[in-house]
Amino acid sequence: MGRMGKNKTESKLIKLGSDPDIHFGSLSDPIYKTSTIIFKNYDSFLRAKKNKFKLPYYGRLGNYSVKRFEQIVCKLYESEASIITSSGLSAITITLLSFLNKGDEILVTENCYEPVFNFCDKELLRFGIKTRFYKNNNIEKLIKLINKKTRIIYIESPGSLNFEVEDIEKIVKIAKKNKIVTIMDNTWATFKGFNPLKWGVDVVIESCTKYISGHSDNFCGIIACSNNNFKKIKKTAVRLGDYVSSDSCYTSIRGLRTLNIRLKKHQENANVIFEYLKKNKYVNDIFFLPDKNNTHHLLWKKYFKNANGLITFSIIKTNKINKFLDSLDFFKIGFSWGGYESLILPLNQLKPSINYYKNSFYWFRIHIGLESTEDLIMDLEKGFKKYEEK
Ligand SMILES: Cc1ncc(COP(=O)(O)O)c(C=O)c1O
Repeated sequence: MGRMGKNKTESKLIKLGSDPDIHFGSLSDPIYKTSTIIFKNYDSFLRAKKNKFKLPYYGRLGNYSVKRFEQIVCKLYESEASIITSSGLSAITITLLSFLNKGDEILVTENCYEPVFNFCDKELLRFGIKTRFYKNNNIEKLIKLINKKTRIIYIESPGSLNFEVEDIEKIVKIAKKNKIVTIMDNTWATFKGFNPLKWGVDVVIESCTKYISGHSDNFCGIIACSNNNFKKIKKTAVRLGDYVSSDSCYTSIRGLRTLNIRLKKHQENANVIFEYLKKNKYVNDIFFLPDKNNTHHLLWKKYFKNANGLITFSIIKTNKINKFLDSLDFFKIGFSWGGYESLILPLNQLKPSINYYKNSFYWFRIHIGLESTEDLIMDLEKGFKKYEEK
């Protein structure tokens, strides 16, 4: 990987993690299926034991396939260290646990991915750790929530349901002043669209399950950070028994090869669908960051180099919502996003910490896939026709 640091990201995505010279000419790395790693002699065993997070030691701590992916992530985020985990969520929970002790407090964006809300509100609470949820872009209020017990400010930007953007520079400044660790979920943008480490965030997390893998057939999480934070987080990951399969790393690396063109196409298609939804009489609000009228458009442009395939929109509540959803062929009802296919997720709320159940709209987050936009529009048209039928 010698000269790789100087290459453009597009080229890195093609070249990283390929070493035909040591792998029988194979262009892609083979998948190493290793649980037990053996040592040449007692000396090498002792050396590995002393340095078990770096050297080959035991498969669960990382075999060749995992280490290769870790190296790639370091190049992509230009980080000193990285850790690969079993899922995006485990990357988040492991990182949070690494910095917390009984009696500590944590500040979490009210826009966080719902399982993060549940982890903080249910699991951390059981161990005497209190979570306070902060409002989007209200630094004065955020400052008021900080006290001597605050250890972490957790950022997710843009939020994955409503795409609200945080002013990361301001949050990092406050955090540094108060010696608080900042952790950011960067799944929406991927490393291609934004590098939080460059803006002073301490630990970045990304779910490779989404755009990196890109085919809705893999779970994997990335953590990128400094060497110091690596030691802390890796210890927790190992003690909790987190394990990532070599197949997951292989699938993630394979996804990197086509990430660039897939992301471009998702954005392109999303633009077309956005224009269609904007003109649709049933659609009330639409959240889409490339939309110049979006409240967060300028802040998004300040930080992010790309958009993606996500759009959220609302329609007025009627008892025909099932007709709308059930008549869709291309938009499948399902969780997650970042795969090649279009998805629709009905939502009751856009912020997990705030109860929206009494509002008069149905919300849908759609992920625009790689299908023809003509077909996608026809599909939505069909859905709206059913919705308006008497
Ligand atoms: C913003 C965000 N972060 C993290 C995750 C968790 O990723 P995973 O499904 O790999 O656990 C998700 C999953 O939907 C997500 O949307």
